[in-house]
Amino acid sequence: MEYKTLNNGVEMPMVGLGVYNISRRETQRVVEQAIEVGYRSIDTAAMYYNEREVGEAVKACGVPRRQLFVTTKICDPCFTRDETLRSVEQSMKQLRLDYVDLMLLHWPVGKPAVMWQALEELYNQGLFRAIGVSNFYPNTFPAIVNGARVMPVVNQCETHVLYQQRKMREYLSPYNVALEAWSPLAEGGHGIFKDRTLINIGEQYGKTAAQVALKFLVQSGVIIIPKTTRVERMRENIDLFDFTLSDNDLADITRLDTGHNVTGWPSDALCY
Ligand SMILES: NC(=O)c1ccc[n+]([C@@H]2O[C@H](COP(=O)([O-])OP(=O)(O)OC[C@H]3O[C@@H](n4cnc5c(N)ncnc54)[C@H](OP(=O)(O)O)[C@@H]3O)[C@@H](O)[C@H]2O)c1
Repeated sequence: MEYKTLNNGVEMPMVGLGVYNISRRETQRVVEQAIEVGYRSIDTAAMYYNEREVGEAVKACGVPRRQLFVTTKICDPCFTRDETLRSVEQSMKQLRLDYVDLMLLHWPVGKPAVMWQALEELYNQGLFRAIGVSNFYPNTFPAIVNGARVMPVVNQCETHVLYQQRKMREYLSPYNVALEAWSPLAEGGHGIFKDRTLINIGEQYGKTAAQVALKFLVQSGVIIIPKTTRVERMRENIDLFDFTLSDNDLADITRLDTGHNVTGWPSDALCY
């Protein structure tokens, strides 16, 4: 596993498991299996309604807590410090962990600057090892960074070979904020696994289209959190570190960028 050093010095695995849309019934099994095959980072959120099961898996898996990296996100639109603290408390109650490695504002709702100050306070108290944002674009990101005493370590946004977020990467670079890709496999749809460019490149290295699509992001310095419930795909999605895409491969994949989001979730093009 490769790690990224975040702007506060914390090391975050480049590949984690996303658990959106995994049922409460399945989550503990899935997370324990992922940890067994080598994952060390798990991405959940209050909105996924499976924080409790993620916390259970983390406690039951046998790997020391300090070797694991747990991300969660608060999604409620909060307008005051107290509302934000209550949202965080809800997540901590579900997870039943002493601390969270990375706490994110899930999207720009409520009063993001006020919410951020509350996260800063809890970060300074040691409840989170790092804090960051998700789905913040140039019209909302300044509300966070302009008054920040603690910079976000990541901005988690829709990013994959069909929506490569090159402008966002340039935008975040002066802030030293890392881009983290949600839906790094474009939700497993939009023809990504049948793409001839990805398949042909993969054949040179004995890798699948999915592995090429994920490697493209990792090799570009983007943290990824692909979701799967199947153990063979967990192995596949983490098996990215024994090959390197050539400059030609990178150029060919760069041409797959549509320049816009494909999932239908809010992005700069849609909601701002
Ligand atoms: N911050 C946000 O607003 C936000 C929004 C969306 C997602 N996220 C995070 O990002 C994570 C990943 O995004 P996502 O779940 O939307 O989509 P994704 O990871 O891009 O794709 C997941 C889909 O691809 C399939 N899949 C996974 N690996 C595969 C492989 N090697 N070959 C073929 N199919 C494969 C999965 O099916 P199986 O499960 O059947 O394998 C699932 O249907 C989420 O779980 C969540 O943690 C965050």
